[in-house]
Amino acid sequence: MSVLDDLRVGFGEDAHALVPDRRLVLGGVEVPSLRGAAAHSDGDALLHALADALLSSLALGDIGIYYPPSDEAFRDMDSREIVSRCLGTLHTRGAELVNAALVVTLDTPKLGAYRADISKSVAALLKLPPERVGLGFKTSEGLAPNHVQARATVLVRVR
Ligand code: C5P
Ligand code: MG
Repeated sequence: MSVLDDLRVGFGEDAHALVPDRRLVLGGVEVPSLRGAAAHSDGDALLHALADALLSSLALGDIGIYYPPSDEAFRDMDSREIVSRCLGTLHTRGAELVNAALVVTLDTPKLGAYRADISKSVAALLKLPPERVGLGFKTSEGLAPNHVQARATVLVRVR
C-alpha cells in the first residue's frame, strides 16, 4: 500500500474559435478582446478544460455527456456552474481536489494583466487557495491565431 494508491490525476482540454461580437471569458473572468469564443455556452475554454479534468480524474467521461451542446437548457450557461457541479460530483464520491494546473494558449489578447483575477476566480470556484492553482499563458506562435485553447490537469485524493 502506497500513498499514491489514493491519488488520481485528471486531464482535460478544450478549444473554441474566436469570432467577432462574442465575449471572451476565461476562468470566469471576462477579458476585453476584439473577438470572443464561438460557443453554445459562454465558451469559457479554461473552465471547460478544468471540468473535463475533474471528471477525468474519476473516469467519469467528459462534460459533453452531462451538458450536451444540443440541449437548449445549456445555452449560454455560466461555465462556473458546470465546474461547481463537477466538483460536487467528486465530493459526493468521497474525493477531494489537491491542486489544479492550467494552461491557456491564445495569441491575442495578452492575458498577463488578468492573471491575478483569473487565478482568484478559479481558486474560489475550486475552494482552493490560489497557490494550489497553477496558471500559464502561451501563444501559439501564430500557428493557431483564430482559436483559444486550454488544457487542465488536476490531482485528486480519493478515500
Ligand atoms: O508563447 P510564448 O512563450 O511566446 O509567450 C510568452 C509569454 O507571454 C508567456 O510566458 C506568457 O506569460 C505571456 N502570454 C500572455 N498572454 C497570452 C500568451 C502569452 O500573457 N495570450
Ligand atoms: Mg468549450
